[in-house]
Amino acid sequence: MSHRQPSTERTHWWRDAVIYQVYVRSFADANGDGVGDLAGVRTRLPYLRDLGVDALWFTPWYVSPMADGGYDVADYRAIDPTHGTLAEAEQLISEAHEHGLRTIVDIIPNHVSDQHPWFAAAVAAEPGSPERERFWFRPGRGPQGDEPPNNWTSNFGGPAWSRTKNPDGTPGDWYLHLFAPEQPDLNWNHPDVAAEHEDVIRFWFDRGVAGIRIDSAALLVKAPELPDVGPNLAPGDHPHVDREELHGIYRRWRDIADSYPQPRALVAEIWLPDMHRTVRYLRPGELHAAFNFDFLTCPWDATRLRDRIDTTIHTHRAVDAPPTWVLSNHDVTRPVTRYGRADTSFSFETRRRGVPTDLRLGARRARAAALLALALPGSAYIYQGEELGLPEVEDIPLEHIQDPMYTQSGGVDPGRDGARVPLPWSGQAPSYGFSPPEAAAEPWLPQPPNWAHRTVEEQAGDPASFLSLYRTALRIRRAEPALGDGPMSWLDSAPDVLAFTRGDVCCVVNLSATPTPLPPHGRVLVSSGPLPDGQLPPDTAAWLRFPPSPNRTEPAR
Ligand code: NOJ
Repeated sequence: MSHRQPSTERTHWWRDAVIYQVYVRSFADANGDGVGDLAGVRTRLPYLRDLGVDALWFTPWYVSPMADGGYDVADYRAIDPTHGTLAEAEQLISEAHEHGLRTIVDIIPNHVSDQHPWFAAAVAAEPGSPERERFWFRPGRGPQGDEPPNNWTSNFGGPAWSRTKNPDGTPGDWYLHLFAPEQPDLNWNHPDVAAEHEDVIRFWFDRGVAGIRIDSAALLVKAPELPDVGPNLAPGDHPHVDREELHGIYRRWRDIADSYPQPRALVAEIWLPDMHRTVRYLRPGELHAAFNFDFLTCPWDATRLRDRIDTTIHTHRAVDAPPTWVLSNHDVTRPVTRYGRADTSFSFETRRRGVPTDLRLGARRARAAALLALALPGSAYIYQGEELGLPEVEDIPLEHIQDPMYTQSGGVDPGRDGARVPLPWSGQAPSYGFSPPEAAAEPWLPQPPNWAHRTVEEQAGDPASFLSLYRTALRIRRAEPALGDGPMSWLDSAPDVLAFTRGDVCCVVNLSATPTPLPPHGRVLVSSGPLPDGQLPPDTAAWLRFPPSPNRTEPAR
């Protein structure tokens, strides 16, 4: 059996890497203040190495007032004191590398914090001043100027504009924010904005990071006249989504990435309704990869999943970019909860608090979905806690909720805190080893009292646990040359059963309501649940050696 090269020596590593998302605030707290930190991550690097992932994506760790969990950056070249120091970040990057783990940092080019020196200077300056040109300040509409300059809405709810006050206390101009008011949008037509970001990217590449995750990557460029959003816009005609000028920005970023001798990758967060538009960002000379939200949002339905898998593969092949497979992140409802509902799809527009879920069913499906995602061609993402089968925490007391999505939507959206609860590592009671035992502070979000059986410690010794399933699947994926990047072929299968081969590995997923016979095979490599009588039960997946090859020597597990 030929094994892959150690992951940090591979050149096109982003084409098949398994990338683990570390939501720093909630991963591990070493200093006992109840908030995750870089020292905490460093102590858990052996866990991440043993899990079998190739790279770590860190959500923003920079200086931030935390109005949006760090996606409101005040200084890109310094670490927020609650997380640590720049020296520790450098140490973490190099220690991760020693464990065979690459590092990806998050860059948020659409906006900065309202505490960023540029915005502070802009607010202090006169209307029409050069300081304000780096943002979008405009007079309001209406006789008193008390209506927002246009009809754009914030992604978190409400208008995308907030009004400033003049030095004498009278209402002043408005400024644009596609997210929270504490996240003013930058004006990408201003040369300082492009120059600053190119410098920030180099700053982190120079510190050894192997990749950049680009936040809200399709939103940066605005139509300069800021027209209202009209109905039925053709792709590319929206005044602030997916505008053509973005491609030039990312070509320059690609040149920077390619100027380094070690391969660096640019991964885009792009939510667009049409994947044909998304892959235009992945054309040669542009970005390396984009998160596959079509897969993440897809309901647990064989026909729809197959359709999205096919679209993903065809669209990506056309630009020679690797598909990615994503089941969760820090913004969406956790899969165990989502897949246990009557409606198993995900959308920000429709999610509500208190929708009933069957967690047992959701867990079965989430396990099967993990084997599906990790068998498909390309690269895959795992959001921390997904490997533990953590459900969404839906009963966080309202006084603890921090997400602006909850407040700005007037409580209509439950917010994203339920997917951000600090990880349970060990022990019987909160904080389950998230903070040191002697820590006085509570975790920044309360953990459920019934998570003792979900800790890493509990699951590590249980071959039937979520963690064991992920570890086994990742070990096999790394050992099997046919998994990761490369071709796949669908097999004929019963209705609502997905079956495909990757070389001599076959992945079968039963999304029907009845057990289905396994196709002829040599041996079962891994399954997401028991396989009674050689049948694949509903909501179960298996990887098989296919076709049978009795003389083959299997690797020790
Ligand atoms: C996408 C990030 O994933 C999300 O957490 C954040 O709120 C928005 N972008 C704004 O930066």
